[in-house]
Amino acid sequence: MEYITLNNGIKMPMAGIGVFMMTPDEAEASVESALKSGVRLIDTANGYMNERGTGRGIKKSGVPREEIFLVTKLWPTVYEKESAVDETLERLGTDYIDLLFLHQPTSNWRAGYKNIEKAVKEGKVKAIGLSNFPDDMLKEAIDTMEIKPQTVQVEAHPYYPQTELKKILSENNMGLMAWYPLGHGDRSLMEEPIFTDLAAKYKKSNAQIILRWHIQSGNIIIPGSKNPAHIKDNFDIFDFALTDDEMAKIAGINKNVRYYTATPQLIEAYASMELKTDL
Ligand SMILES: NC(=O)c1ccc[n+]([C@@H]2O[C@H](COP(=O)([O-])OP(=O)(O)OC[C@H]3O[C@@H](n4cnc5c(N)ncnc54)[C@H](OP(=O)(O)O)[C@@H]3O)[C@@H](O)[C@H]2O)c1
Repeated sequence: MEYITLNNGIKMPMAGIGVFMMTPDEAEASVESALKSGVRLIDTANGYMNERGTGRGIKKSGVPREEIFLVTKLWPTVYEKESAVDETLERLGTDYIDLLFLHQPTSNWRAGYKNIEKAVKEGKVKAIGLSNFPDDMLKEAIDTMEIKPQTVQVEAHPYYPQTELKKILSENNMGLMAWYPLGHGDRSLMEEPIFTDLAAKYKKSNAQIILRWHIQSGNIIIPGSKNPAHIKDNFDIFDFALTDDEMAKIAGINKNVRYYTATPQLIEAYASMELKTDL
């Protein structure tokens, strides 16, 4: 495993798993399997509606809580709710969260940020992140909030490497957690000839080459998988390194295109979208 040190001094593993679009039982199984294979970073969210399942997976794995880096996200409808962090802790079955994000740039996010800052001061949260925030809102948070955010979580992969955002992050010593690190499993990305060639050279899979590219780009990765063999393979990426020339060739397939673009209407709708989070 490789680690990144956040701007508050906290050390974070650079590879973990995400449990987006999993039922509570699937999240439980995926988390248990990942932790048993040595994974120590788990990413969930209020909005994934599987925090209880995630918490059960942690308990069933037998891995001590202090060895796990647990990440979750507040959904916009609870940004202003004073008990939002405590309710999240209760669902996850833990008394602290390693990294807590605001999930979407909407609603009263400034109040939500202050809610998380308060939880940091109370020892319930160790680090703060912003997910899907556009550059101007991110800069506002960096410039005006008492505690500077430690990370962002955004879509990032070789077709959309977030080159502009990374300049802001590097100036502020912030990390980037890449969602859709494998392009949500898109075959046109996964089967790019450059990955097939490098997979043959290093005796790895195309997915492992893409994930290795992320690590060497400084990205924290949380690939999603329901397949225990994939989960294991996705962490078997720390015994080889791509050359500078290979990294440059991969940079050449950048299309500057996202898979997912949230419209302003959708982001607005998130502000009042009540989700059944108690699962
Ligand atoms: N903050 C946000 O708004 C946001 C949005 C989206 C996602 N996320 C986070 O990002 C995480 C990852 O996103 P994602 O799961 O949607 O996309 P992803 O990790 O890019 O891709 C997942 C897909 O890749 C396949 N896959 C995984 N490992 C593989 C391997 N070794 N070989 C071949 N195929 C493989 C999976 O299928 P199998 O199940 O068959 O392995 C699945 O279909 C989420 O779980 C979530 O934590 C955050």
